[in-house]
Amino acid sequence: MEKLIGILTGGGDCPGLNPAIRGCVMRAKDHGTNCVGIQDGWRGLVNAETVPLGVADVFDIINKGGTILGTSRTNPFKKDDEAKKCAENFKKLGLDALVAMGGEDTLGVAARLYKEFKLPVVGVPKTMDNDLSATDFTFGYDTAVTIAVDAAERMRDTGRSHRRIMVLEVMGRHAGWVALTTAIASAADWVCVPEEPVDIERMCSHLKKAHTLKKTALVIVSEAITIPGEKIGKEALDDFGHMLLKERGVGDRIAEIIEKETRIETRVSVIGHIQRGGPPTIFDRILGSRMGVTAADMVESKKFGQMAALRGNDCVAVSLEEATAKLKTVPREWLRFAEIFFK
Ligand code: F6P
Repeated sequence: MEKLIGILTGGGDCPGLNPAIRGCVMRAKDHGTNCVGIQDGWRGLVNAETVPLGVADVFDIINKGGTILGTSRTNPFKKDDEAKKCAENFKKLGLDALVAMGGEDTLGVAARLYKEFKLPVVGVPKTMDNDLSATDFTFGYDTAVTIAVDAAERMRDTGRSHRRIMVLEVMGRHAGWVALTTAIASAADWVCVPEEPVDIERMCSHLKKAHTLKKTALVIVSEAITIPGEKIGKEALDDFGHMLLKERGVGDRIAEIIEKETRIETRVSVIGHIQRGGPPTIFDRILGSRMGVTAADMVESKKFGQMAALRGNDCVAVSLEEATAKLKTVPREWLRFAEIFFK
């Protein structure tokens, strides 16, 4: 009898998910296995909501942003019985395996469903934040940074014309990867990341110098930074207990501080969800495709409780538990590397 894989995408969407879905469906076909789409992340498994997912549904989605399956930040372990429902619906839908594509939260649920309910689950790492341990890169990140670099360079053009300092706030949650690489790749003059408190004095004195030299200066700010002297208020939390960062406005506050300290006119832009839409870059199309194919192969060889990962240039299987144990944040060496270019 032909086997059936259920595929779901959870958490924030990102470019590369559709290539990954496509890779999994197409490779599963080679193994004589069919796939079905589970809609809107874990919510879809709780409610047994599926969509057909054959080769004809995926052959031309490699260049499409978002996820054709929909997504949500539902945590079935938050409400009584929802995790049990996932296990029951797994059976009811006639599934032989589940491929969960997500970040630390979605894959954390996958790890628990494997451990506590013995569900045959395989994970696929995705997140524009690039903060998942056990894999060198996650798809979505390259596209997000590519878009942010384009925005940063446009800001510098207008900033130079008006002799202003420009501040770009980017996403990235509790890891500064997006901000850091955007700053390096756009030749920015400073970067603020959540891994280190902002050194206002050093930043402003450097920006004054940079502005004298270039008639503009560019600062990249990550959304979850701590500004010295500011207390983090009681912000709303999602199902996984993460702060909803959408209303923090750290970019605005950094811009105000810079303007006050340097007395140079300063403007700010927040790129937000623009970073998460649009066609995936070629890197993300290929990485997504490879991860999807690897996941289908892992199902075939029964590597359950594991996640497809990129190590060097190889696709390997790693334990879901290891992958979700702790976030991959930016190490000091990378921050010092970025500073080489702040001249
Ligand atoms: O985790 C991906 C991410 O894009 C973060 O960078 C950001 O903080 C968050 O999702 C935004 O979530 P939402 O789409 O729910 O506003």
